[in-house]
Amino acid sequence: MKSISVIGSGTMGNGIAHVFAQHGYDVSLVDIKPEFLEKALSTISKNMDRQVAKGSLSQEDKDAALSRVSTFTSLEEGVKHASLVVEAATENMALKLDIFRQLDQFAPADAILASNTSSISITKIAAVTQRPTQVIGMHFMNPVPVMKLVEVICGYATSNEVTQRIMELSQKLSKDPVEVNDYPGFVANRILMPMINEAIYTLFEGVAGVSEIDTVMKLGMAHPMGPLQLADFIGLDVCLSILRVLHEGFGNPKYAPCPLLVNMVEAGYRGVKTGEGFYRYTAGSKDLVVAPRFSK
Ligand code: CAA
Repeated sequence: MKSISVIGSGTMGNGIAHVFAQHGYDVSLVDIKPEFLEKALSTISKNMDRQVAKGSLSQEDKDAALSRVSTFTSLEEGVKHASLVVEAATENMALKLDIFRQLDQFAPADAILASNTSSISITKIAAVTQRPTQVIGMHFMNPVPVMKLVEVICGYATSNEVTQRIMELSQKLSKDPVEVNDYPGFVANRILMPMINEAIYTLFEGVAGVSEIDTVMKLGMAHPMGPLQLADFIGLDVCLSILRVLHEGFGNPKYAPCPLLVNMVEAGYRGVKTGEGFYRYTAGSKDLVVAPRFSK
């Protein structure tokens, strides 16, 4: 596999493009607007600069990696030579199904079609294509250049050969892939989201404050971020939508999203990306400041 197309140039898409380009693959990055693609290239360049500053990437390797990334606003053009397509568009079922119908039409017949979805069924996505055996989940974690895991999700029809190729490819990206089956939330979010939801319930019920809850989990369980900070980092809307997939998929009330989370998302407080969630974020500052409504 030499030529990789990445659909969507947001946080996950540009991180995935970064990692493939850094490891010698030609990357076609596709998005709907040129300005999204320009922003993605600048983000990749800045993130590679961190690696150059740390000495884990040379300036020449950075330049070579960036030169391997081409950008496209036409999906048809962007995937026509792909051996693998990794879709990292917005987490919206109708949008993903539409993209996969088009990928099936425009990507070479032998190309593997992967989705970076965090919770949408791979089996359902595969079913809108004529090549369900070649559809698979490739779930990277944010920040993609830093996190070692790729959750490789086998849909109901995914072939063993395709799974093996994606496991091997993930290793070539210096990642540690883990193979899982396609059930709601897969493994990562089936375990992570109930923990985040429980942290929000703990706050909602007044058991402890934002900093206290996060400190318990950071110092007590050695998590790099507390669950409320992590929820802000992932996006509260994304957490809510994954919890809804778990709740609906298993029909079990233990996955019901906390009403506080629902209210925050409905009010537009979605975490880092909107500047406020459980914490308030100021551009350029690394300080962790509890949002005024949650401070004592
Ligand atoms: N690109 C490249 N390098 C990056 C980076 C990026 N986007 N972001 C951070 N880094 C590097 C930094 O340069 C730094 O490198 P060194 O260790 O070589 O110094 C290192 O990562 C640590 O970064 P910082 O010093 O800026 O900050 P930190 O120590 O607070 O770490 C963090 C930041 C890596 C994000 C850490 O807080 C962490 O691991 N948090 C948890 C992340 C997590 O759980 N992610 C999974 C979310 S769930 C998900 O993604 C899936 C889903 O479906 C919801």
